[in-house]
Amino acid sequence: MSEKRILLIIGGGIAAFKALLLIRLLAKRGIKTSTIITKAGAEFVTPLSVGGLSGEKTYTDLFSLSDEQEMGHIELSRSSDLVVVVPATADLLAKAARGLANDLASTTLLATDKRVLYAPAMNVRMWEHPATRRNIQILRENHAVFVGPDEGDMACGEFGFGRMAEPETIADAIEKILDGKTHLDDLAPKPLKNKHILITAGPTREPIDPVRFLSNHSSGKQGYAIAKACAALGAKVTLVSGPVALAPPQGVNMVQVETAREMLDASKHALPADVFISVAAVADWRPKTNTNKKIKKDKQKLQPLALRENPDILRTIAGGKNRPKLVIGFAAETDNVLNYAKAKLANKNCDWIVANDVSGDVMGGDNNKVILITKSGADMWPLMGKFEVAKKLAQKIVETIG
Ligand code: C5P
Repeated sequence: MSEKRILLIIGGGIAAFKALLLIRLLAKRGIKTSTIITKAGAEFVTPLSVGGLSGEKTYTDLFSLSDEQEMGHIELSRSSDLVVVVPATADLLAKAARGLANDLASTTLLATDKRVLYAPAMNVRMWEHPATRRNIQILRENHAVFVGPDEGDMACGEFGFGRMAEPETIADAIEKILDGKTHLDDLAPKPLKNKHILITAGPTREPIDPVRFLSNHSSGKQGYAIAKACAALGAKVTLVSGPVALAPPQGVNMVQVETAREMLDASKHALPADVFISVAAVADWRPKTNTNKKIKKDKQKLQPLALRENPDILRTIAGGKNRPKLVIGFAAETDNVLNYAKAKLANKNCDWIVANDVSGDVMGGDNNKVILITKSGADMWPLMGKFEVAKKLAQKIVETIG
């Protein structure tokens, strides 16, 4: 088997000393380590101690002519099988997410074609800050892998998420990736394992005749993103979807439907579930008669289309005997969003309502600004991408039922 080598980037944080332990652990496992220390990292560990442990020269300076003559930053990552950032500070994550390249570490992260594993370490508030959340999401979308952070006491005297994973855990993750023994997603925590989450998404289509139908502008993007986020956390997901132009998310059990009544049947059929998330923009009405012959326009001249009400899927599931423990409805409104949504929470028997103002370009767009309404209050979330909303909602679900 060929020699395995990683490129370790040591960031500037109190957890940097653990990078030294990691180099030793990897050496014992036969994995060689090239190293870069950021300027801030060098305030915590010295190039001498890092070089002493790795047995190789450590690199610090983008503009060092001798370094570039010996080994350019491109070559540093090219000759490694994996890039590992320990500790991944908020600053390094931000640079990597946004593509900044103003020092050797960030330039290497931008230039590498290798997988990057980050072991974040920072104060809990920095970890939870929306800016960091966004950066993590971007990096994940770019196929980065994260190990930790853990929950625990931190050097700053606070308690919470932000404590770096232990070197053994990081070394295990590195070894698994290098051995190709695991799919990278397997390394992520799976707090929704063994939970069944039923999600409706997209519009419904209510036929008028064989060529015409009633429907709406729902793209299905928000529902599909929620399905993806829940599946990534290990949930068994059933996604009952109306007609949309999206690819089925991986690892999700898809049920394609057209009409509201089909959506209701498929949803009931998928029960029992631990959580029901009703994201679909169900058509409230359907034509009273659905002929199998195309209606001639001359015959229908001035004749109004007779409609009848569709079943309310959310209310039916929330009021049924197989009611999931957590029932979440969506409320798309163009005005008076909060009041309408609060009323919906009560009259649809939901636990939560995710309310959003659809007067802008939310329907079909990539962003969403929502208010999460629970029985204990309303929480206004900032404008976020639909996948970010999905992940935040999935995290709330973990906190509630995980
Ligand atoms: O009453 P309204 O359509 O505003 O309620 C929105 C919520 O109810 C969404 O969660 C939607 O998925 C759900 N709904 C439903 N069946 C309907 C209408 C809405 O499940 N027929």
